[in-house]
Amino acid sequence: MAEAVKAAGRQFAEAGLEAPERSAQILICGLLDIGLTELVLDAGNALDVETQSRVASAVARAVNGEPVHRILGRREFYGLELQLNEETLEPRPDTEILVDAALPHVTAIAARQGGCDILDLGTGTGAIALAILSHVKQARALGVDISEKAVLAATQNARRHGLGERFRATTGDWFDNISDRFDVIVSNPPYIRRSDIDGLSDAVRRHDPVRALDGGQDGLDAYRIIARETDKHLRQGGRIVLETGFDQHDAVIALFDKHGLECLERRRDLGGRDRVLAFARKAL
Ligand SMILES: C[S@@+](CC[C@H](N)C(=O)[O-])C[C@H]1O[C@@H](n2cnc3c(N)ncnc32)[C@H](O)[C@@H]1O
Repeated sequence: MAEAVKAAGRQFAEAGLEAPERSAQILICGLLDIGLTELVLDAGNALDVETQSRVASAVARAVNGEPVHRILGRREFYGLELQLNEETLEPRPDTEILVDAALPHVTAIAARQGGCDILDLGTGTGAIALAILSHVKQARALGVDISEKAVLAATQNARRHGLGERFRATTGDWFDNISDRFDVIVSNPPYIRRSDIDGLSDAVRRHDPVRALDGGQDGLDAYRIIARETDKHLRQGGRIVLETGFDQHDAVIALFDKHGLECLERRRDLGGRDRVLAFARKAL
């Protein structure tokens, strides 16, 4: 096994992939359905012929630029393994910061009221909502996505993690099919400027769905809609927590300010760049 990981790591390094050793470990552990500990313990074991051929074809796909989690069809987010499909974004570690920022609000509201209703706009795999539900037992969430396949993935991910009774997902264009109010709204909307999409890495441009990336001409289309509609869907004392692009904090704060929402918190991502904003209604 160790040999297979080393060989894959060498091929990834030659192909110029990021973190070649780590990617080789993730890919081979994922294909064999084992953890890192088993990889170390069973390092001397040889792979059977069938497994060697599965590994070889997965390594070839990765060398060709396909992200390892796409090849495996799943990725871990906030301790939950989530299934992907061609219409879901691969959830990213930076988005865990949004979950970190939302959790204290959800926990406080749930403690005060005995429950907390969350709306996850552009739910994708359900990553944000499911991570929150897995930590706050009294919370419930509705996930909305324009993609039917994303809604299917989110629903299946919820069931797989025993969260199906507290999570529902529906297709829709942001708030179009939503009439209820919520205690907490969360969203990681598409926020890449359209003209920047061609310059993204191959892995992102070729393998993440464009609907998950394209934020319109200035990257802010989704924030404009969310800022305008939030007041109709947020309960008294509610919060809205959003991921943004690294250079969008000031613009997004200005958009929400125009609609009576004040910024409570700004958070940076793992690379020290602006990434998450939390808002509440301004006091009258
Ligand atoms: C950046 S991805 C985020 C996915 C997931 N929440 C996450 O953080 O991993 C944005 C999501 O918004 C969805 N989306 C794009 N336009 C939408 C719209 N008009 N209404 C609802 N969802 C939309 C995409 O399909 C995609 O799943």
